Amino acid sequence: MAEMMEAILAHAPGGPEVLELGSVERPVAAAGELLIEVHASGLNGADLAQRQGSYPPPKGASEILGLEASGVVAAVGEGVSGFATGDRVCALLTGGGYARYCAVPAVQAARLPSGVDFIQGTSLLETLCTVWLNVFEIGQLKTDESLLVHGGTSGIGTAAIQLATLAGAKVWSTTGSAEKVKLCLESGAEQAINYHEADFAEVIRESGEAMDVVLDIVGGDYFEQNLRCMGTHGRMIVIAIKGGRYGKIDLGRLLMRNLSVQGSTLRSKPVAEKAALVSAVQQRVWPMIADGSYRIIVDSVYPASKAAEAHRHMESGRHMGKIVLNWD
Ligand SMILES: NC(=O)c1ccc[n+]([C@@H]2O[C@H](COP(=O)([O-])OP(=O)(O)OC[C@H]3O[C@@H](n4cnc5c(N)ncnc54)[C@H](OP(=O)(O)O)[C@@H]3O)[C@@H](O)[C@H]2O)c1
Repeated sequence: MAEMMEAILAHAPGGPEVLELGSVERPVAAAGELLIEVHASGLNGADLAQRQGSYPPPKGASEILGLEASGVVAAVGEGVSGFATGDRVCALLTGGGYARYCAVPAVQAARLPSGVDFIQGTSLLETLCTVWLNVFEIGQLKTDESLLVHGGTSGIGTAAIQLATLAGAKVWSTTGSAEKVKLCLESGAEQAINYHEADFAEVIRESGEAMDVVLDIVGGDYFEQNLRCMGTHGRMIVIAIKGGRYGKIDLGRLLMRNLSVQGSTLRSKPVAEKAALVSAVQQRVWPMIADGSYRIIVDSVYPASKAAEAHRHMESGRHMGKIVLNWD
């Protein structure tokens, strides 16, 4: 008989109340995979959309929410090298993270950096890989260039500000409160604009700055605003559309300034691309975590059984940094 495990299940699309602790069949480690006994699961913006029914998991992925988890290797699938049972790891998942066990291609897992606990460990790969892909690989941000990050205290925002600053770039950010402005500045942003108090594009233009790269999670009206504050050969990467899926484009500005715009989604990328990102992040960011230059910012930790509360907190937008579910 199949072994069972605890998992957070959504019995129907809807609000946070649809999330309940339940029991499902435990996955097994197929060839090339690790089975991880999960100690902590990270929340990500996409989980809210999946719970609401507007972001279904890609074909073949677990129906269970959760794009990252940390824990201990419980079993090693055929053909896997470099991991053994008992290893403390974190993993970038395509789904299935809100559960006591998850199976993942071994190439999407990484040993936890030394000194990093499970709570911090599940706050790393989804945000770091997203930022690495979009800011450095697609956006090609260089030292001495400038980056505009919206939602500067989100999981993505805190990672983007820190990594870009550590790479020697100048970072501007937008965010929604005075307290959040403070965290953006502490994370390394040169300027942080409270968008409830000022029009960010106007502030940037008046300052004489022009952004080389914009990492956008808002879309909607921000699309045109982003274009207004981009410099020649500027690159905008759209990774979420929290403010709406339609935006206006000033095509004149686009062509006169040689701007480019690209969208991207990490979740649906093939395993090989995710593996390359996990590897890049381990190589480049793990040393920054070890020497303390990169700070893992955790907002709050909820028992896994209180996943609904954790989702309510994320939906409120009051959080700063990562929200984590604890299985211990
Ligand atoms: N495409 C990809 O591959 C990919 C990968 C990872 C994440 N994402 C997306 O990136 C976004 C951030 O992810 P996360 O996990 O870091 O989320 P998060 O921690 O929940 O952060 C979201 C933040 O965005 C800001 N925000 C929300 N609505 C806004 C609006 N209309 N205008 C301006 N700011 C708004 C809020 O902060 P303020 O108070 O500052 O407004 C909020 O705290 C999510 O939408 C997620 O789905 C995309």
